[in-house]
Order: sequence, then C-alpha cells, then structure tokens
Amino acid sequence: MKLHYGRMLAEALDGEHGIPRARLEALVARFPQVQDEVRARRRQGEYGFYGLGDQAETVKGIRRFAEGVGQAYDHVLVLGIGGSALGTKALINALKAPAWNELSDEAREYFPRITILENVDPTSVTAALQRIDPRRVLVNVISKSGGTAETLATYLVVRQWLDDALGPDAAARHVAFTTDPARGPLRALARKEGIASLEVPPDVGGRFSVLSAVGLLPAALVGIDIEGLLLGARRALAKAERDKLLENAPALFAGLHWAADTWLGARTHVLMPYSDRLRELAAWFVQLWAESLGKKHDRRGSVVHTGPTPLGAIGATDQHSQVQLFMEGPFDKVVTFVRVEHLGPDVAIPERAGLPEELAYLQGHSLGELLLAEQEATSAALARMGRMNATLVLPRLDSETMGELLMFFQLATGFAGAWYGVDPFDQPGVELGKRITFAAMGRPGFTREPAPAMGGGDVVE
Ligand code: PA5
Repeated sequence: MKLHYGRMLAEALDGEHGIPRARLEALVARFPQVQDEVRARRRQGEYGFYGLGDQAETVKGIRRFAEGVGQAYDHVLVLGIGGSALGTKALINALKAPAWNELSDEAREYFPRITILENVDPTSVTAALQRIDPRRVLVNVISKSGGTAETLATYLVVRQWLDDALGPDAAARHVAFTTDPARGPLRALARKEGIASLEVPPDVGGRFSVLSAVGLLPAALVGIDIEGLLLGARRALAKAERDKLLENAPALFAGLHWAADTWLGARTHVLMPYSDRLRELAAWFVQLWAESLGKKHDRRGSVVHTGPTPLGAIGATDQHSQVQLFMEGPFDKVVTFVRVEHLGPDVAIPERAGLPEELAYLQGHSLGELLLAEQEATSAALARMGRMNATLVLPRLDSETMGELLMFFQLATGFAGAWYGVDPFDQPGVELGKRITFAAMGRPGFTREPAPAMGGGDVVE
C-alpha cells in the first residue's frame, strides 16, 4: 500500500493553496517528538491496538470456535454499535461477495449469512427477526463495556425471541458474547448463564477493536481469512515504527491532515474510496477520526474544542453529488482517495454498431478502467482547482490489504492524537447524552432533566 501525497503540497496545486515545502520540513523536524510521545504512551499502556498484530492464541480460539460450534449455524446475527459494529461491516463489505445474504448456500460455499443490527430502530430489528430462523442462528453480542443500552436492549429482545422459539437452555447455546474479560454486565451474564464468550483486550478501545475478537469472530464465521488480515496489520505496524516522517505513511497522513486543519483551515477530511467494496470502510473511518480527535480538552487540560470533521464519499458515485462542493466550495477540505489497482474480474464495455460519437469512445475499454480513470481525473482536477488531496493505492483488495488498510488508519489516528495534542482513546463527550437517556428510561440514580423537552414551546409546524 502506498500513500501519494504530492497533491497535498503547494507546489502541485494551482493558486495559493496547499502545504508549502517549508512547512512539510517543519513537520519532518517535529516528528521525532511525536514518535517519542507515542512510544512513551505505549509503554504506559495506552495504544493497546499496537498489540493486535500478535494474537496467535486468540486466532486459534476463534478458528476452533468458527470451525467447530460455528459450523452448526447458517446465519450469524451480530448485535453491536459504534466500534463494535462498524469494523465488522467494513470487513464484510470489502471481503465477501456483494449481496452475500442473497446468494445460495453453494455460492456462499456453505458459509453462513450475516446480519448486523447496530441500531434500536424497531423496524430493522423486527424485519431481521422475521427473516432469520432462530433454530439456525448464532447471535454474537459485542460490547466492550458490556453495558451499552442499544446493544443490550436489542439482546434482551433477541434473547426472548430465541427463548420463545427454542426454550431458555437451548437458546443459551445460540449466543456468544464478545466483551471485556473481567468487567461489565455482559461478562457477569456470561458467567451466570454459562454463555460462550470471547475477550476484547482491556487496553483496546471500541473503535480500535476491529482486528480483535470483535471483528475477527464474525469474519472467521463467514470465511474471511483472519490470518491474512493480521498479516496485513503487521505490515502496517512495522511501517509505523519508522523514525523518518517521510517514510512513515500513517504518521505522515496524520501530520499532513493536522497541518491542513490547523495551519490552513482545511477542517473537513474526506475519505473517498473508488470502490463500492470500501463504502463501509469510509463509514468506519468517519467514526474513528471523529470520536478520536473531536475533543474539548487537550492532554494538558486546556479547553481547545478541536477536531476535524470527517466525511465519507464514494467514487465515482459522488462525482455526481459532493464533488461539485469539493471543487468549488470553500477551501476547507482535504480529500483522500483510496484506489484499488486490480479491482477483481473486470467487465468489458461491449462494442455496438452505430453508436453516436459521444458514446463510441467507451467501446473497447472496461468498467474498471473507467473507474480508475475517473479517480485520477478527479484528483488532478482538484489539484487544478487548488484543492489538497492524497491517494492511498492498494494493489488489490483482499484480506491482507484490508488488514493493512484498517491498521493504517488506526495508526494514523494514534499519531493524529499526538499531532493534535489530544487523547484519541476517550470519548467524554458522549456521556452526557447517555446520562439523560438513562434518566428518561428510569434507570435508578439518574434524575430527569428539568429543562423542557425539545427546547420548550418555540416550535413551528
Ligand atoms: O469507539 C468506541 O469506544 C465506541 O464507539 C464504542 O465502540 C461504542 O460506544 C460501543 O461500546 P461498547 O462496545 O462498549 O458497547
């Protein structure tokens, strides 16, 4: 995997925009401090995701489960939210055939179908439970804390549905928890009811956990090569140890984005893969970048209200939607493309007699060729309009490159925490909303907000 960053620099852009080379050199000079800080914090027990390249025992356990008990089911139902769902969605989207659940058993090579329920919208939950046969389902409840209201409420609904169909004892055999090894309500339930369970390493936060049992179990169950994922992750980890910024792609990605944001006001960071198979990767990145870097306080406790706004886009689709804004709107964005050189089996655009000249040029090319030509054209056009952009190039999309890509973004986020001077592993901003919800739902110890609902009577129809 390679990061092409030339079009982040002023010299490659038309107009007064982009990062001047002198400023790149300033980043290079500052990097040893950033790398030292990351290393020091790793020694203090932060940045636990660096340990995910090395999980021989976990992989063995997951393999045993997937190839043993897991074989008995033809549908995997994952319950989780945020970091406990988005990574799995990205893996399935990238590495399983499109419309996986609609394929026949044979076409799926007898691997199960998979449904991921991440929201408490009753419509989605009801529809899923109507579609799935409770006798043939394995329910994987994923919650690092073990107490997330959305996941646990859905679990209670799903568990009742299983109990009603199978009886409580048999139902328990259709459930596996992925949660903290020692703490939280889900761990307590696992112990009490003897439910199979896997562990999320205590030092790995939700949005950094896709390459732990959180993403690896569902991935293995549907036949994704999890060793390949970790091989790719190790490749990214090795590169992140490099001490020179211009050789360390994740640190450079982070540094350039931090510079673009804080020096040049480019506060919106767009990830735009040119592949439908990376649509969910963009959604996963959005959460990772937003929740990790959007902070009120810096590491020293000063109020900074900092953080870029991440945005997902898909090429070529969004060329007919958001790209107009990227080209001509405010100079407040950086666009990172993800380009896959070999997209897989390509589709030739057939010849057809008598086509008008405006269409005839397409003949003899392929859809993949058109997609890649559009990616390069959009990048070049953005540069022509003075818009910073970079391109991550993958030779192909498979478990290894996907593992490398996921770990690349996690590493970049870890480095970005150091560039921005914030803790990328906490999320204090979501606590207040949770407390107000608990009060509204009558949880003991939480008092209802005295403020009028929805801001009171200022309303219009
Ligand atoms: O990244 C995070 O920490 C969050 O997005 C969590 O993954 C999310 O809140 C779900 O938490 P949990 O896994 O504890 O249910």
